[in-house]
Amino acid sequence: MSNPIRNDILKHDVNVPRYTSYPTAPHFTMASEYQDYIDALQAVSSDDGLSIYIHVPFCQKMCWYCGCHTKISRRYAPVEDYLYLLLREIDILADTFTEEPLVKLVHLGGGSPGLLRARDFELLITKLKQRFRFTKDTDIAIELDPRGVTEGRVASYAKNGVTRVSLGVQDFSHDVMKAVNREQPFHVSYEAVKLLRRYGVDHINVDLMYGLPHQNLQTAKETFSKLLYIDPDRVSYFGYAHVPWMKKHMRLIQEDTLPQKDLRFDLFEAGQEYLLGLGYEPIGIDHFAKAEDSLCAALKDKTLHRNFQGYTDDNSQALIGLGASSIGETPDTFFQNQPDMPIYKDAILSGHLPIKKMYLKSADDKMRAKIIEHVMCYLSVDMEAFCDTLECSVDLFKKELDEIKKLEKFGFVHFATPYAFTIPQSAKLMTRLIASTFDTNFDNDQTINRHAAAI
Ligand SMILES: C[S@@+](CC[C@H](N)C(=O)[O-])C[C@H]1O[C@@H](n2cnc3c(N)ncnc32)[C@H](O)[C@@H]1O
Ligand code: SF4
Repeated sequence: MSNPIRNDILKHDVNVPRYTSYPTAPHFTMASEYQDYIDALQAVSSDDGLSIYIHVPFCQKMCWYCGCHTKISRRYAPVEDYLYLLLREIDILADTFTEEPLVKLVHLGGGSPGLLRARDFELLITKLKQRFRFTKDTDIAIELDPRGVTEGRVASYAKNGVTRVSLGVQDFSHDVMKAVNREQPFHVSYEAVKLLRRYGVDHINVDLMYGLPHQNLQTAKETFSKLLYIDPDRVSYFGYAHVPWMKKHMRLIQEDTLPQKDLRFDLFEAGQEYLLGLGYEPIGIDHFAKAEDSLCAALKDKTLHRNFQGYTDDNSQALIGLGASSIGETPDTFFQNQPDMPIYKDAILSGHLPIKKMYLKSADDKMRAKIIEHVMCYLSVDMEAFCDTLECSVDLFKKELDEIKKLEKFGFVHFATPYAFTIPQSAKLMTRLIASTFDTNFDNDQTINRHAAAI
């Protein structure tokens, strides 16, 4: 591998958050009154547009690498019961607004929202359209496990306005997928994509992972050469976060089959090289998109964002999470729904929004969140210009800039002025570490067991 700073990157591989928010979700601990939450929702302008995230925490079989909030259900009944709770939650939420808010984006994630049967998916979207304002520009995106894609469901997605699909692929090699309890031959993903495109659902993202058992440079070659036939608009290439202390099913993965960090690094670099060779543009730390995809336009126009769903061009001022464990955000708050199904259910049945945690952002949080998001999106920041727009003195961040400056000798950053730095593509795996400098909650010693490795 030809990256000249490979060895230094490997030496700096520490455990850091993924920064899909700042503060990160474990810090949303501030207790608060139910009415504070209602006030925060009511402060959201109904005309600026919001996005809605709906979590479906069910899957038919556990993938042993899975870090998501989900549970296994072989029967459909729990999924159907949950759908009726979601419909009720939509009503309770809509009743808190005096005017119907405009919705810019609906994102269904999981777990496996693709488990919803065609008719039930239609019930859910119809309910949203009845209670919120949708326009012809409202996007509907759904995460799908290709193994559950059927013609009936795809027809329902097309009829109900789904505009984007993210497919969980991870890897195309049989041995890798068998070792994580997810057998998914290439033709399953290929046929799912063909069906989606036949019905006009043609914005396709594919999720791939590196760091899975038995992966090596040969399996990466196999996966990326097959990806050509799927021809997605976007690819997410996630580093497997192995956190068996948090997710017990990860213990089922034989640790001696996991690639060591030098191989993880090489897998990332090899994947990136294939993707760039196929004409994809790099977005942030782990996304790649075709030049004509809206993420590339957002990168150029400086309107790219990072939220709980990853990189996005969605610029809604509020994100509302529906369903057990969902996380939402308004300009002043973060909030999270009850992850525990019986408690979630009780709240809904008693006519309340199932809120568990709410966090009021301080002025300092908001400033740091903007800086961290900028670094994660653009791998660069001009702190002088930033502090001008934030109306604060750049001296406030002297300590952080001094810390980051120390990394220049390794080639992780280049300072164009004493306040403006860029992370070169060769050091992009160090981006989370560099962003963590601005995180006042981050203490590597205390959090060492809470996050996954940077590489
Ligand atoms: C919530 S899953 C939903 C997709 C769908 N359930 C499926 O598996 O096809 C979204 C993506 O998160 C990624 N993911 C899940 N667990 C992960 C982990 N432990 N580390 C890194 N990425 C992970 C996978 O790439 C997965 O496709
Ligand atoms: S990766 Fe997807 S299908 Fe597998 S257990 Fe996680 S959410 Fe379910």
